[in-house]
Parts: sequence; structure tokens; C-alpha cells
Amino acid sequence: MTETLPATWYRGAAQYDRERRGAFGATWLYAAHTAELVSPGSYVARECAGYPILIARRDDQSLQGFHNVCPHRAGPLVHDGTGTATSFVCRYHGWVFETDGALRSARDFGAPGEEPDCSLFALRTEVWRGLVFVNVDGAAPPLADALGGFAEQTKGFDFESFVPAGEWHHDLACNWKTYAENYLEGYHIPIVHRELARSIEVRSYEVIARDDWCLHRAPAKDGTVLDGRWLWRWPNLALNLYRDSMNLEQFVPMGPDVTRIAYRYFSRDGTLDEEVSRLSKLLLMEDAQICEAVQRNLDAGVYDRGVLSPRHEQGVALFQRLLRASASPESIGEPESLT
Ligand code: FES
Ligand SMILES: [Fe+2]
Repeated sequence: MTETLPATWYRGAAQYDRERRGAFGATWLYAAHTAELVSPGSYVARECAGYPILIARRDDQSLQGFHNVCPHRAGPLVHDGTGTATSFVCRYHGWVFETDGALRSARDFGAPGEEPDCSLFALRTEVWRGLVFVNVDGAAPPLADALGGFAEQTKGFDFESFVPAGEWHHDLACNWKTYAENYLEGYHIPIVHRELARSIEVRSYEVIARDDWCLHRAPAKDGTVLDGRWLWRWPNLALNLYRDSMNLEQFVPMGPDVTRIAYRYFSRDGTLDEEVSRLSKLLLMEDAQICEAVQRNLDAGVYDRGVLSPRHEQGVALFQRLLRASASPESIGEPESLT
């Protein structure tokens, strides 16, 4: 019988810090879509697990990720969101950086010749089928190798040409793992998602868990807009693919006890199917309610560990294996006295 992670892992700064470094910092994180970065100077700024990420299209058309952190005294360069800039002007003391990260000028810094020699903190950046990823620690395998089996599962879905069709986010009062584990099993569907349960063959719902990705599938009943492929990749990316659109969902930790669920819709013609939008929001609201209730119970100090269903919760088991391997005190290399 597979035991769950201990409840203590779902709260507090110490475990969150391990996960920031071991789970988020050490792999490829989705950061932006190339359709949001069309012309030189366009940029996207977003935070993920406490990493302020800035992606910019340079004059030579290449994409480069940076930390949205000024090397002077850690000021922010741009507000979160999308925009276009011919340079980045730090919002603290006004140093100016080129879109390739080089320092152009340090305002009124000192006498001539005293200008600092620095540039923006660069992030390793690669693109796969229009999706821009960054790797914070710089040590992950090349993106195409890392995506391996996950990438295979997207074959047949022609989403390179999709353009943004809308976005939406909702903050949940729970640890990111509480939501991720909920996403990774369909066991709760008949109880929590009554409408979804009527649209698919719930009894045939299955989750295929491999390496660092999962595929959910269930035969759709005629007429549902949810006839597609639901994929997840470690640690926090879900790609819900349909024939003419996709919903790119990210579980973004905003701290140990707040998780932002960001939905970004893309479609062939830039329009958002109202029914896809309605259903995805309904499902999220249903999941939000149960995840926040579970989190309160994890925090209550009654429950420590449970067990996972071999039939329904193999996705959760995979997630917890990956978590133990990347962000336990042992895998992070902490001395025992700190654990
Ligand atoms: S922190 Fe950016 S200019 Fe001072
Ligand atoms: Fe759910």
C-alpha cells in the first residue's frame, strides 16, 4: 500500500523553500507563449514559486529569459504582465538595461569611469512548439529531451498556430501540492464534479502516469466540449488540449499556503469558446472548495498520512515520488540537524 506524504509537508516555509529549489528551480518551467512575444521588445513578466521571471524578445528576434530583479539593489524592472519596451528601466533608481540584458546606463551613479559593470541575471530559455520554458538552476537536460514522453502525447494536436484567446486566474487558500494532487486523480469526479461526471464515461476514467508526466483520459459522451486530451507535466503545468483550442493551466505557488491557478486559453482564431470557459471555471470552483477544505484539515493536526488507491491514484503516487526525490531534506542535502 502506498503511503501519502506527511501532512507537515503541506505547510511552512522550510518545505516550501526545498520545493522552490528542488522542484521548481531544477526543472523546466513554462513561462510564456511565443504568441505573447511577437515583436522585438515585447515581454512577459510572471512570478512562479517566488521566481520573478521576465521573458523578452530581443532585436535579433531571439527570446531571452531574465530574473525580473535589478542587479543594483534588487528592484523590479517591469510590472507583472505583458508589454513592449525598447529598454528596461528599473523602477527603483532608474538604471536602464537593453532588451538583451546589458546595462545601458546607471543614472547619476558616480564620477565618469565609476559606472558598474553588470547586466541582468539571465535565465536559461528554450522554446518547444510555441511554449517558452525557463530553467532557473541552468542544469536541466535540454528541453526537448526533458519533455520526452510528454511531448509525444501532444502529437496530433496542432497548437503551434494557436493565438491567445483569454486568461483568468483564481487564488486558492491551499498549498500547491494539495491542488496538484487533486488535478492528478479522477477518483473525486463523481463526488465533486457532478456536471463533468454526466459528460464523460466516469467508470472508464483512467490516468496514465509515466516518468514525470500524466495523461488523463475518459471516453466523452456525444456533444461535450471536453472531448480532448488532458496532460500534466512535473511540477505544475497542465495542458488541456482540444481540436481547435487549448487551455494551458499552471498551478503557481505564491507562498506555502496560496496557490494561483492561471488559465490561459488559446485557439485557432483567437476566440474563446464560452462553453469551454464556463466548464473550466465551474470545475475550478468545485476543486477550489474541496482543496481549501482539505488544506484546513491537513493543518488541523489530526491527519498525518493516508494511503493511495492503486486503481485511481497512481498519478498522485508519481507526483509524491517526484517530490520525495527532488525536495525532501535528504534529496536537498540538508544535514539531519536541520530537518
Ligand atoms: S535597484 Fe535597480 S536601479 Fe537601483
Ligand atoms: Fe477536480
